[in-house]
Amino acid sequence: MKLFDVYPLNDVTIVKAAGSYVWGDDGTKYLDLYGGHAVISIGHTHPHWVNRIEDQLHKISFYSNSIKIPLQTELATLLGKISGKEDYQLFLCNSGAEANENALKLASFYNGRKKIIAFSKAFHGRTSLALAATDNPLIIAPVNKTDHVIFLPFNDEVALQQAFEEQEIAAVIIEGIQGVGGINVANHSFLRAIRSLCDTHNAVYIADSVQCGYGRSGSFYAHDAAGVSADIYTMAKGMGNGFPVGGISIAPKFVAKHSMLGTTFGGNHLACVAALAVLEVMEKENLMEHATTMGDYLMGELKKMHQIKEVRGVGLMIGIELGDDQKAVKKNLLYKHKIFTGEAKPNVIRLLPALNIGKVEADLFLAAIKEELEAIV
Ligand SMILES: Cc1ncc(COP(=O)(O)O)c(C=O)c1O
Repeated sequence: MKLFDVYPLNDVTIVKAAGSYVWGDDGTKYLDLYGGHAVISIGHTHPHWVNRIEDQLHKISFYSNSIKIPLQTELATLLGKISGKEDYQLFLCNSGAEANENALKLASFYNGRKKIIAFSKAFHGRTSLALAATDNPLIIAPVNKTDHVIFLPFNDEVALQQAFEEQEIAAVIIEGIQGVGGINVANHSFLRAIRSLCDTHNAVYIADSVQCGYGRSGSFYAHDAAGVSADIYTMAKGMGNGFPVGGISIAPKFVAKHSMLGTTFGGNHLACVAALAVLEVMEKENLMEHATTMGDYLMGELKKMHQIKEVRGVGLMIGIELGDDQKAVKKNLLYKHKIFTGEAKPNVIRLLPALNIGKVEADLFLAAIKEELEAIV
């Protein structure tokens, strides 16, 4: 059997990782500013995370949600505290798409409606409704097409207001900072308008925090910098630092009913300890504060490079918009300078490093990109 060939691959095989570095099978050391797509939040193989999982493996790794799993309650309590949502409720699942799927379903259960508002360039995952709310016709199969989703221009308050006047809306789903779309930051006034319109019309505000959440922006949820709370926050990626785990944080007004949501693997013992280890390290190492400091430093230095078209982002979610003649920069960063970065089409370099990246690592990257940009005349 061969692999179903859906991923364009870099010619690198990684066999070892620690902190902000990974090593190839030929011994080459790479600086990782991509974090396997915003997943590595507290650094590769963080000792506390490894110990927590290893310890749990010797006790029990999995049992279904048909028994009490106190680790889930422990996780809900710590997540509530660190995210500042102690009165919210936690449902655990396994991935970002699944988190969004459940959030949308819960919204529809709540108000009995069907219409979802999503935005241009949004990415919410590859399962049915999450995909239908994703603005990329190339990845939407005919069976995923639905007239339940209305796409509006990102950050357009007039269009938003108008949509609420014309239709009965179940939910609005929005990334606080669009990732796949190219690092586009939602305006605070736009998020406040969503909050206010959802309140007026009894619709549900869903904050897709799968990529921009979990402290990456310096706030636990990037959306909260706008000063208003969402009804449901969805999360995954950085939540387990590489262990597959997702979840939704649900406002108190939603009342759970047995069997309303469910999953076999969600909230298993190993996933819970991985997620707990991430939160414990975030708290102990002040990683949200650090994300702000390092993000401000990186963006400040990048903005001095006049060859860059635009630098966008918040905290450690940074987009570097380059011109058509600078397409080789990303490739050269990897193959010449041994630095992994992310990308967004057509020409944005995405930085999604571990939240505890040091200044030494930031400076290595800044020197490398400067050299590459200066080499293009
Ligand atoms: C904002 C956002 N939502 C949802 C997802 C889907 O997450 P997953 O790939 O874990 O299903 C992603 C993945 O890139 C994402 O960036």
